[in-house]
Amino acid sequence: MLNKGLPAACLMLILFLFAMAHGVKGDVSFSVLEEMKRGYVIGNIGKDLGLNVKELSARKARIDAEGNRKGFCNINLGTGELTVAEIMDRESLCREKLSCVLKFELVLENPLELHKITLHIQDVNDNSPIFPKEVIKLEIRESAIKGARFRMSGARDPDTGQNAVQNYMLERNDHFVLAVSSNKDGRKNLELVLDKELDREQQQEITLILTAVDGGIPPRSGSVQIHVTILDANDNAPEFTQEVYRATLPENSPVGTLVLKVSATDSDEGINGEVTYEFSQVSTLAEQAFTLDSKTGEIKVNGPIDFEEESVYEIQVEGKDGFGLSSDTKVIIELTDVNDNIPEIFLKSLNSHIPENALPGTEIGIINVQDRDLESNGEVLCVIGSNVPFKLVPSIKKYYSLITTGELDREVKSDYNITITATDQGSPSLASSKTVYLIVADVNDNPPAFRQQSYSAHITENNKPGSSIFSVSATDPDWRQNGTVNYALYPGDVDGTPVSSLLSINGDTGAILAVRSFDYEKLKSFKVQVIARDNGSPPLSSNVTVSVSVADENDNAPQILYPAPEGKSLMTEMVPKAVQANSLVSKVIAVDGDSGQNSWLSYHILKATDAGLFTIGTHSGEIRTQRDISENDGMKQNLIVSVKDNGQPPLSATCTVYLLISDNLAEIPELKDMSQGTGSKLTTYLIIALVSVSIFFLTFVIIILAVKFCHRRKPRLLFDGAVAIPSAYLPPNYADVDGTGTLRSVRSAYNYDAYLTTGSRTSDFKFVRSYNDGTLPADLTLRKTSSQDPFGPCDETDSSQVK
Ligand SMILES: *[C@@H]1O[C@H](CO)[C@@H](O)[C@H](O)[C@H]1NC(C)=O
Ligand SMILES: *[C@@H]1O[C@H](CO)[C@@H](O)[C@H](O)[C@H]1NC(C)=O
Ligand SMILES: *[C@@H]1O[C@H](CO)[C@@H](O)[C@H](O)[C@H]1NC(C)=O
Repeated sequence: MLNKGLPAACLMLILFLFAMAHGVKGDVSFSVLEEMKRGYVIGNIGKDLGLNVKELSARKARIDAEGNRKGFCNINLGTGELTVAEIMDRESLCREKLSCVLKFELVLENPLELHKITLHIQDVNDNSPIFPKEVIKLEIRESAIKGARFRMSGARDPDTGQNAVQNYMLERNDHFVLAVSSNKDGRKNLELVLDKELDREQQQEITLILTAVDGGIPPRSGSVQIHVTILDANDNAPEFTQEVYRATLPENSPVGTLVLKVSATDSDEGINGEVTYEFSQVSTLAEQAFTLDSKTGEIKVNGPIDFEEESVYEIQVEGKDGFGLSSDTKVIIELTDVNDNIPEIFLKSLNSHIPENALPGTEIGIINVQDRDLESNGEVLCVIGSNVPFKLVPSIKKYYSLITTGELDREVKSDYNITITATDQGSPSLASSKTVYLIVADVNDNPPAFRQQSYSAHITENNKPGSSIFSVSATDPDWRQNGTVNYALYPGDVDGTPVSSLLSINGDTGAILAVRSFDYEKLKSFKVQVIARDNGSPPLSSNVTVSVSVADENDNAPQILYPAPEGKSLMTEMVPKAVQANSLVSKVIAVDGDSGQNSWLSYHILKATDAGLFTIGTHSGEIRTQRDISENDGMKQNLIVSVKDNGQPPLSATCTVYLLISDNLAEIPELKDMSQGTGSKLTTYLIIALVSVSIFFLTFVIIILAVKFCHRRKPRLLFDGAVAIPSAYLPPNYADVDGTGTLRSVRSAYNYDAYLTTGSRTSDFKFVRSYNDGTLPADLTLRKTSSQDPFGPCDETDSSQVK
C-alpha cells in the first residue's frame, strides 16, 4: 500500500504543481439524489464551465475520481453533460455522515486543466429501521420495583436526517412503558420502564412488540419482539400446613422411630421454593432426643427418650427457603409412660444387731421404696417372706417400718436374711428385691448346763496326789464370754476336811484332780458340788453333785489279834490231857483292814510239832484236836499258823501258837524253857507284877458284872469256846464301812456282853459276844478304845494262867 501510495502522492504533487503552472480554472458543484439510474443527467458541466462541446472532446475531457474511486460519474462529450455512471448509494458511500459529498475532477488536456467537481448526494428514505437482534430478551426479576429501567438497544436506520429513526412504539401492555431519551449527540436511548410490578407466580413471561419508525415520507418502520422472562424472586415464605403439630409417643421408643412429619410449602420457584427444615428453639434435651430431617421434615427418635426425665417436648421448627425466608411452627411431642422403672428399695436405717431379748414389735429399720413411673406403674407394694419373725408395717407414704413379730433366740437362729420384695402395679409389673442381713445379738440368757444330772466318780485308794479322777462338762449355748464356762468346786467340807484339800478342778476343762492320796479305810465316799459359771455379766451358773467313791485296794495285810505276835508276850494255851478228838483247843483271830475279798481271811498250819495232832479251820481259825491226846504226846506243842487274805496279790501274816498239854499248872516252870523271847529278869518281874495286879482287878470286875447280869439274861452261846481278844491288840481306828459284815472279830464298846463261863473244858475264859446285826454304821469309826476297853485285862488273865 505504501509502495503504491507513494507514487500516487508524487503524481498528485506533480499534477498540483502542473496546475499551478497552467492554472485551475474554477470549481463546479452538483447535487444529485442517491440511487439515480445510470445515464441520469446530473448537470451540464460544459455550460457551467463555459466550454463548448468541441473543446471538450478536443481536449479529451474526462472525469477522474479522487483516489482510486470508481467513477460514479461520466461526462458526455457530445453534450457536456455530467451523467450517473454508477448507482450511488449514499448509505454505502457515506455511512451515517449527514452530508455526503463526492469529489471529482474534470481533466482537460492541451493545455492541461483541472476542474473540481463536487457532487452532493442527497439522501432518499430507502431504509427501514432495523433492530440489531431479532428478539430482545430480557430477564427481569419479579421483585423489580416500579420504575425500574431496562436498557434496550434501539433500531438502526442508515438513512439520515428525517429518514433516520424518529420514533418508537411499544405494544400496549400492563407492565411496561417505553422511555426514549436523546443523547447530546442526538442518539436515542431506549429504555423499558416497569410501570406495574411483576408476579412470576401469575405470569412467567411477557412478549411485546417494539416498533421503530423513521421520519421519511412515507415513513418506514421496523419492529422487534421483546421477550421478557420474569425471574422468580424469593417473595414467598414457606408456609407450614399446620400451626401446631402434635404427636404422642411411648417412651423408650427405639432410635429411628418416626414421630411426625412437618411440611411447609413455598410457591417460589427453584431454590426459592425449596424448603429446608430445622429446629429453631429447642432444648438440649429435645435436641438429643429427636432429629429433624432438613429435607423431608421428618422428626425421628434419635436418642433415649425417658418419660421420667421429660414428658412433653415443645420444639419450634423453622422452614426456610433458599434465600432465607422462613416461618415457624410448633411441634409438641408428648411421651406416654411405660413401666420401665424397677421399684427401688432404700434402707433408710437399720439396726442390724438386734438383741435376742428384743420385745416383739421392736422397730429395727426403715425402708423406703421408690418407683419413678407414673400412676399404677409407680405404685409399689412391699412385702417380706412370711417365714421370718419380722414384718413390714406401712408407715407414711412409701415408707415402711421393719419390726419384729416374735421372740428371737440367738441360740436357735442367730441371723436372718430378710428378703424385701417391691412390686409395682404396672403391666407387666416390675419387681426388685433386697436382702437385709440381720444378726441376733447375744444376751446371756442360758446358764451352763451339765451334760448329766449328777456324776459319780470312782477312785482307787492309794492314788497319786494330782492324778486326774474324772471330768465334768457343761455347755452354754450363749455367745463368746456369755457362753464360756468356768468350773469351780463349791467350798465345803467332808467330815471336817475342806473339799479343797481333797479335790481340785481345772476351771477351764472341768477335769477333777485328786489333791491327795485317798485311803479307802478312812474315807469310802463323799459328795462334792461343782459349779459351772459363764463369763456373762451378770454371770449365770448351775451346779451338779459329784459322788466320789473310793475303791478298796488290798493294802492291808491280815493282822493277827490272837495270839499276840511273837516277842510281845508269851501266851500259852493249856490243853487238858483228857481232851478228846475234835475238841476246840484254841483259835487264831485275825482282822484285815481291807474290805470285800481283800479281807476274806483263810488260816493254815504251816508247821506243827506233831503234824497229826491239831488242825485249823480254814475260815474260822479254830484249832481243834484231830485225835485223842495220848500219854505219848509231848507236853509242848507249837503250831505256826499263816493267815492269808483273798486280795490280789494276797497278803499274809504268821503267828505261833504255843500249846501245853498238861492238867497241872505246876508244870508251868517248864514253860520257861519254851519261852524263847523272854527279856531280862527285870522285864519278867515287871510283867509278873503287872499281871498280878491285873488279875486282881479283873477278877473284881468279873465278879461284879456276873452278879449284876446273871439274874437278867440267859447267855446266848454263839460258838463254843470263844476266845477273849485282848484289847491291847486291836489296831486303832479300823472300821467296817459298808456293812458287809466281813469283819467278824471286831469289838465295840457298845455291843459287847461278857460272860464268865465255868463249864468250859477247853478254856478258862469263854466270851460270848452278841452282835448288833453284825454290822457297824458307815460313819462309825472305832475310837482308840484300848485304854477304856473294859476288856482290856483279858491278856492279864492269860498271863496269870501262864503263871
Ligand atoms: C445370709 O446370706 C449370707 C450371704 O449370702 C450367707 O452367708 C448366710 O449364710 C445367710 N444366712 C442365712 C440365715 O440364711
Ligand atoms: C453377753 O450378754 C450381754 C447381755 O446379757 C450382752 O450385753 C453382751 O453383748 C453379750 N456378749 C456377747 C459377746 O455377745
Ligand atoms: C445348786 O442348784 C440348785 C438349783 O439348781 C440351787 O437350788 C442350789 O442353791 C445350788 N447350790 C449351790 C451350792 O449353788
